[in-house]
Amino acid sequence: KMSSIDLEKLKMTGAGRAMAVLTSGGDAQGMNAAVRAVTRMGIYVGAKVYLIYEGYQGMVDGGDNIKLANWQSVSNIIQQGGTAIGSARCKAFTTREGRIAAAFNLVKKGITNLCVCGGDGSLTGANIFRCEWSSLLDELVQKGRITDTLAKQHAHLNIVGLVGSIDNDFCGTDMTIGADSALHRIMEIIDAIMTTFSVFICSHTFCKSIQMWCTSHSHQRTFVLEVMGRHCGYLALVSALASGADWLFIPEAPPQEGWEDRMCDRLEGSRTTGSRLNIIIIAEGAIDINGKPISSTYVKDLVVQRLGYDTRVTVLGHVQRGGTPSAFDRILSSKLGVEAVVALMEATPDTPPCAIGLSGNQAVRLPLMECVEMTKLVQIAMDEKRFEEAIKLRGGSFENNWKIYKLLSFQKPVQSEVSLAVLNVGAPAAGMNAAVRSAVRLALTHGQKVYAVHDGFQGLADGKVVEMEWHSVAGWTGQGGSLLGTKRTLPEKHMEKIVETISKFNISALLVIGGFEGYAGVLQLFEARGRYDELCIPMCLIPATVSNNVPGTDFSLGADTAVNAAMEGCDKIKQSASGTKRRVFVVETMGGFCGYLATCTGIAVGADAAYIFEDPFNIQDLKTNVDHLTEKMKKDVQRGLVLRNEKCHENYTTDFIHRLYSSEGKGIFDCRVNVLGHLQQGGAPSPFDRNFGTKLGVRAIQWISERMTENFRQGRVFANSPSTACVLGLNRKVISFSPVTELKAVTDFEHRMPRVQWWFNLRPMLRMLARYQTSFCEYVPGEIEHVTRRSISIDHGF
Ligand SMILES: *[C@@H]1O[C@H](CO)[C@@H](O)[C@H](O)[C@H]1NC(C)=O
Ligand SMILES: *[C@@H]1O[C@H](CO)[C@@H](O)[C@H](O)[C@H]1NC(C)=O
Repeated sequence: KMSSIDLEKLKMTGAGRAMAVLTSGGDAQGMNAAVRAVTRMGIYVGAKVYLIYEGYQGMVDGGDNIKLANWQSVSNIIQQGGTAIGSARCKAFTTREGRIAAAFNLVKKGITNLCVCGGDGSLTGANIFRCEWSSLLDELVQKGRITDTLAKQHAHLNIVGLVGSIDNDFCGTDMTIGADSALHRIMEIIDAIMTTFSVFICSHTFCKSIQMWCTSHSHQRTFVLEVMGRHCGYLALVSALASGADWLFIPEAPPQEGWEDRMCDRLEGSRTTGSRLNIIIIAEGAIDINGKPISSTYVKDLVVQRLGYDTRVTVLGHVQRGGTPSAFDRILSSKLGVEAVVALMEATPDTPPCAIGLSGNQAVRLPLMECVEMTKLVQIAMDEKRFEEAIKLRGGSFENNWKIYKLLSFQKPVQSEVSLAVLNVGAPAAGMNAAVRSAVRLALTHGQKVYAVHDGFQGLADGKVVEMEWHSVAGWTGQGGSLLGTKRTLPEKHMEKIVETISKFNISALLVIGGFEGYAGVLQLFEARGRYDELCIPMCLIPATVSNNVPGTDFSLGADTAVNAAMEGCDKIKQSASGTKRRVFVVETMGGFCGYLATCTGIAVGADAAYIFEDPFNIQDLKTNVDHLTEKMKKDVQRGLVLRNEKCHENYTTDFIHRLYSSEGKGIFDCRVNVLGHLQQGGAPSPFDRNFGTKLGVRAIQWISERMTENFRQGRVFANSPSTACVLGLNRKVISFSPVTELKAVTDFEHRMPRVQWWFNLRPMLRMLARYQTSFCEYVPGEIEHVTRRSISIDHGF
């Protein structure tokens, strides 16, 4: 369905045209990456690109606020927070006078293409400007400020919007620029609170005061956290899911009358399961069923008066807009920025203005004004107390998050009937524990007995099995690594003993959470079904590996955390050289033969190259890259960074590349090597992996329960069809269960990866943004998406 176009042709169309980019409204992390991508793609297609400083105000004021950009104008901003070109709020632009001034400033420079990055208000402003454009020019002609010819030459203004908003409150796109980074900030605070029991390492003043509070009281504590979201509860909802919060207030779902009693009961209930810390998350726009605001202090006073718990309120203000952008926001903004330029170049006076959004893992063009209208409808629905509709209008992902949040709130487990086992296989990956937690809890509420297996298939063979309870998994969502313990052992050689354990504990289903070994293991168990009836049970694999190399899914658990960890590593490496002489870093990433980690990290840090196995390279390519860096270094640029996947080439090793760059750069730059190593597996899971893990755990148990019911015969579960041994994956934007036998055909077993990898089409963008090997003809432009209520929509690829 997707058509590939030749960007060499677009290169021609860009020539002789001018475009401008501005950021507007509240800061959102990732705006810099968007500005960088728009600028560089604009230059790539041959257009003149102007940066407009201070948002619409700069456009109205003109002068030095509108500057012609070159390639270096946007160097080294991708990792910075906020927006490098400013985003002042502007009253003048809301008046016609202001817009006349702005039109004059643009038309004088021949700018007829405008890319605006901001919230729905800013994008609406852009559309008004576009609609008025010809009348503004007419007026300028009448007043004698511009000539008739100039007006005729620039008769039409094309606009395109990029949604920068930390609230993720724009209908039509799965994610807005900045929302993921805001979640990172919120999670950092929640982690600081939750980890006070163990070692406390943060020196942030706020965290220190929390630490004192946590350690100086031994009784029950409640933490009330207020996050941004005056009209939209997205940040609060996802934070609650990702932290396993006890109670949540969002504007879209006001609590029913009597919530005070129910909330206090819930807090007391969780105490009986051993939890000493309660977390309540509240969106700043939270209201009750009568539309009356619910404030965080009201909630606090309630907990203190009714339960006597020591309670603290924290209002997370601008912290949520701060810090460095997450990998997701940097990659998202780069993708959307490139697509914005393509959309501008293709625009005609008849094409409706569009916003570039994300659908699954693809950039798409959305009808701007329809999206704005949809976004307004949500508010109207809330104002008219049609709350269920408001949640639906927010999109399938919001609704899905909400359902899962409710599903996982405390429920009394029912009597156990059948049993299932959960295990982790392969290397540890962030998000594994979140998946175990939600799976265990949901299975318990389904009336299943849940066994946790320690140390993967090896543990299953050795009978290392323990029964899990509701509280066994409390607080697991935010923990890195694998709390169950994981091993790489494959089942093949231990089949007899595995079958023994399965039969001893009457295990009627297996949930495997792991990487490529997990997949290969489930395949082996499936293939042994002919020999052992005990293996005729539903089996599900939740892909979890930093390498993102499991067939049947676009994303595996742990990959997002790994890209963030590698990106942070590279940011620090680059920083370490600031002020010193010219230097190129060669950084080695993990991933086995799979180049996902190297490619995504490369985009997120603005690397000069990322060598991977799937994209073969030879000595000519290496030479081109070295020459390119040498040129770059001569032009005032201080640093270069080259990524190398650990198995990208058996002879062009990291050491080889280091020596090559060192020799060729002699006298111009020096070269250093860094092997990122295990830090890529580690640390706290990213908000995405917590949320993704939680949701996959739920979907897996729902699927397993259905398969068990379907295949229940003569007092036992007997499942032998291929469709009962599956990989649970996310494909584009649809959750799917692919039989392991079917996936065999699309697997490269030698190199342990799928034969076709969706992210491969990010490679031309990486190369273009680094400005060489400029063949960009593999670029696949965004589809035009129609805004309807989506049945399944996902944020951040879910
Ligand atoms: C397994 O099932 C059998 C028969 O239904 C029962 O006697 C036995 O106690 C069960 N074992 C466990 C560990 O639940
Ligand atoms: C690496 O070198 C060996 C000889 O030492 C050669 O056989 C092999 O094909 C080379 N590998 C690649 C990928 O070129």
